[in-house]
Amino acid sequence: MSLLSQFDPEMSEIINNEINRQRQGLEMIASENFVSRVVLEAMGTPLTNKYSEGYHGHRYYRGNQFIDDSESLAIERAEKLFNVHEGECEPERIMKANVQPHAGSQANMAAYMAMAKPGDKIMAMDLAHGGHLTHGSPVNFSGSLFNFVHYGVEKETHKLDMEKIRTQAKKEKPRIILAGYTAYPREIDFKAFGEIAREVGAYFMVDMAHIAGLISAGVHTDPIPHADVITTTTHKTLRGPRGAMILSKIEDRLQPPSPLIRGERQGGRGVKSKNLAKKVDFAVFPGMQGGPLDHIISAKAVAFAEALRPEFKEYAKQIVANAKALAESLTKNNIDLVSGGTDNHLILADLTKTGATGKEASLALEEVDIYVNKNMVPYDTRKPMNPSGIRIGTPALTTRGFNETEMKEIGKMIADIIHNINDESIKEKTRKRVKEMADAHPLYDGLVV
Ligand SMILES: Cc1ncc(COP(=O)(O)O)c(C=O)c1O
Repeated sequence: MSLLSQFDPEMSEIINNEINRQRQGLEMIASENFVSRVVLEAMGTPLTNKYSEGYHGHRYYRGNQFIDDSESLAIERAEKLFNVHEGECEPERIMKANVQPHAGSQANMAAYMAMAKPGDKIMAMDLAHGGHLTHGSPVNFSGSLFNFVHYGVEKETHKLDMEKIRTQAKKEKPRIILAGYTAYPREIDFKAFGEIAREVGAYFMVDMAHIAGLISAGVHTDPIPHADVITTTTHKTLRGPRGAMILSKIEDRLQPPSPLIRGERQGGRGVKSKNLAKKVDFAVFPGMQGGPLDHIISAKAVAFAEALRPEFKEYAKQIVANAKALAESLTKNNIDLVSGGTDNHLILADLTKTGATGKEASLALEEVDIYVNKNMVPYDTRKPMNPSGIRIGTPALTTRGFNETEMKEIGKMIADIIHNINDESIKEKTRKRVKEMADAHPLYDGLVV
């Protein structure tokens, strides 16, 4: 019996219920994954007890010698993983990692603060076309603090048209151009974005939260030579603990730094150098956060060590192969896909022709233990709370060892449920098959808390 189950059986039961839900269903939410047992172990340690505001060698509290070791190891591995380590890569790749951001949203806020001041213009993808809340939604800090203008995908192809984006950037002259999305199934042309940013005198920021694992493994084009700052979560395709990280170029191409970061407004001290990475560090702490989550940072280091292994490259390739097999099967079974398919780990299905809404489909799939999320599709005529689409991803099932044959079967099951949304006998049959498939790929075998 675990200590937790003895002390707090109520919470222990809730946690075990959730572990079993994860085991018994098919997790196809594109932003989720299953961390390894070693990452789980690293997360649950007394490192959570420490306060370590500041950075290695510049901490506010004493007793941080081992926290310094842990954070430095996480940074070193992150820089190795993305091949940005000073002295080991070409000059245009050199970037510094900051592993302290608690989550992707905080990483994005710190990046904006390092490169812009409130009110500055930032050009990002329209939320309904695949952008994230932190890319300028009016209900998010980003949309209320900064002046976002949005680009979108083309109506016919559902893909980005880089010439149109260039024309828009020339007209808007933003401070930052942002690429990297939440629901875009296609490869992103980071080189073209980088060129446009340079032409219009903007910073180029990449939010690679969704595709970081694919980029690290070389199965998606690499933003590093082109971007000034790259943010990412660590828990999606990268398969680490819930958290985030920022990679920043050292040279600041666009002086001067933001007044907020220089502390001019408050008359305080700040970062006045031309070093963009230092500005990002300052924007994370003390700009955005207090003490870092040291137990999570150690787990990020463990996840980076996993991602540095050759097996992870195979894993990333399989994520994409599985997504392509799933896309093919859905299409064959009369489900329309935004842009007609996928190049990465996710698929966006437009259910308009099926008569089901995204909300109805995601609820029906939940009834058979298949988890996806409802999602807006480009040029959606419906509202975000009941949009026309669903988003489906393969990272989590690929971690469990699912292959293309199984993905084809899952595609047919998903289509059958959507086309027969009220048919209880199909649901019953599918539920049974989902359980068999899940049982064939054990998850956290023997883990009980
Ligand atoms: C592209 C992108 N950026 C940022 C985030 C925010 O990450 P978090 O939920 O960790 O704040 C997400 C989350 O889904 C995302 O998809």
